[in-house]
Amino acid sequence: MDLIVCSRALAIRGVILTVFLSLWSQQISAQVSVVPIPKTVMVGENVLLSVSGVTGTILLFSWHKGERSTDKNQMLNYSPNTTPPEQIEEPYKGRVRVFPNCSMEILGVNTNDNGSYTVSIQTRGGQQQQQQATVTIIVYEKVSKPNVTSNLACPVEYKDSITLTCVTTNTTQIILWSKDSQKLPSDDRTSLSQENRTLTITNVSSADSGNYQCEVMNSVSHSTSDLYTLTVCYGPKNVKITPQGPITQPLKSQLTLNCMAESVPAPDYTWTLNGTIKGHEGKLVLTEITIHDQGNYTCEANNSVTQLSGSASVYVNVTGNAASGTDNGSGSLPGWAIAVIVIAILIVVALIAACVYYFLLRDKSKSNDISMKESTLNSRSDPHLRSSSKNPATTGEEVNYSEVTFKPGALKPTQPKLKENTTEYAEISRT
Ligand SMILES: *[C@@H]1O[C@H](CO)[C@@H](O)[C@H](O)[C@H]1NC(C)=O
Ligand SMILES: *[C@@H]1O[C@H](CO)[C@@H](O)[C@H](O)[C@H]1NC(C)=O
Ligand SMILES: *[C@@H]1O[C@H](CO)[C@@H](O)[C@H](O)[C@H]1NC(C)=O
Ligand SMILES: *[C@@H]1O[C@H](CO)[C@@H](O)[C@H](O)[C@H]1NC(C)=O
Ligand SMILES: *[C@@H]1O[C@H](CO)[C@@H](O)[C@H](O)[C@H]1NC(C)=O
Ligand SMILES: *[C@@H]1O[C@H](CO)[C@@H](O)[C@H](O)[C@H]1NC(C)=O
Ligand SMILES: *[C@@H]1O[C@H](CO)[C@@H](O)[C@H](O)[C@H]1NC(C)=O
Repeated sequence: MDLIVCSRALAIRGVILTVFLSLWSQQISAQVSVVPIPKTVMVGENVLLSVSGVTGTILLFSWHKGERSTDKNQMLNYSPNTTPPEQIEEPYKGRVRVFPNCSMEILGVNTNDNGSYTVSIQTRGGQQQQQQATVTIIVYEKVSKPNVTSNLACPVEYKDSITLTCVTTNTTQIILWSKDSQKLPSDDRTSLSQENRTLTITNVSSADSGNYQCEVMNSVSHSTSDLYTLTVCYGPKNVKITPQGPITQPLKSQLTLNCMAESVPAPDYTWTLNGTIKGHEGKLVLTEITIHDQGNYTCEANNSVTQLSGSASVYVNVTGNAASGTDNGSGSLPGWAIAVIVIAILIVVALIAACVYYFLLRDKSKSNDISMKESTLNSRSDPHLRSSSKNPATTGEEVNYSEVTFKPGALKPTQPKLKENTTEYAEISRT
């Protein structure tokens, strides 16, 4: 029982297989094929739709636009036995050439020629009287240079989303994006859509700033856009004043306060002292400082695009002592004053030197004996030594000495004297 069922099933299967095989062999024998030459066609080029595998004698063939052969979409027909053999429909006259081997050439293709073409052939003597084949050609354009545009000039950090668009006039193509010549970072804030035509970055951060580019390509050409520089606006962050406080500044000195902040675009600055506006630049210069310049200086940085602001403060303490120190570099005396002082000191020193020299010279001209003068100095410097060194040898000198002291008279009043000279000394003192 089982065996009978099984063999029946096999028999049915065999029949199906036979039918399929015979259909297949019929199709094989009837196979006409068409290939485009060249395989990829660019706008303006010619393409040959080359037919092969035709069996039997050709009686008539026709070409049709599309995947079916109807009268409506016929481009041309060709019968070898008529003169002229070909009959070409109006829009294709002059644009196509046809050959006895069933091939057709399209001259100077345009994007409208993109699509399928069907050839239908009647033969005598072949296994099939009617043979047919379809070919599809894809017409490529050379891509033109794309351009990147943006929906926002300067998106605000942690707030805005930005959409960059690769503007291209071409249709069939692949679009690739790059940032700073690298592949796009793949994070969940970055997304592509519309066949990569648009690039969207949500909740931008300053790290998204950079040079973006898109490249369009098809099988035959590619082109890259110019760089689009994306600038993300942020800040102000880290508002800072230099020099750092607290600052002690002498009266009448000069002080420059600098305010800095990290910000795109550059911020507007406002300086205030105890709440009163003092300036609108990054730099605040205080000259000839008075006690009214003392207080708490605040710099506020304001970013007009992000609508954010930040501030920093520094206390400037003005000390009463104008001459004291140059703590902050800018409080010193002016250069000319220093120069005047130095010159004055030099003149005084020179005068003193000149006086000393003058008197020395005069002393010399008045004394004939240098050794004698030395003893004078000795005696002057230490009268006790003088009295202790009293001996016969020096006595002669003593005499000499007395003589000298007589000569200058009033000029040398302070001569320590020996017992005999005491009277002389008294005399001189009186004059
Ligand atoms: C058909 O004829 C054209 C023109 O002579 C030739 O270029 C083409 O190669 C031929 N096609 C085949 C399949 O022989
Ligand atoms: C050409 O045809 C192909 C398929 O037939 C299609 O995918 C493509 O978009 C067409 N291209 C043009 C430029 O029409
Ligand atoms: C944007 O990103 C910042 C930092 O990653 C995050 O703190 C903030 O919540 C995000 N904002 C939105 C709207 O997603
Ligand atoms: C889109 O871009 C991705 C890479 O970012 C690429 O793999 C893909 O082929 C592109 N698709 C199209 C249609 O251009
Ligand atoms: C600012 O306030 C300080 C005290 O905080 C005061 O010493 C100073 O004189 C004030 N300066 C001005 C210009 O009002
Ligand atoms: C200066 O002013 C700022 C802002 O008004 C305040 O935060 C800071 O404490 C003040 N500093 C001094 C030393 O008064
Ligand atoms: C200013 O400096 C003087 C002298 O150094 C000091 O006594 C005073 O406390 C300072 N004032 C402030 C507000 O820092």
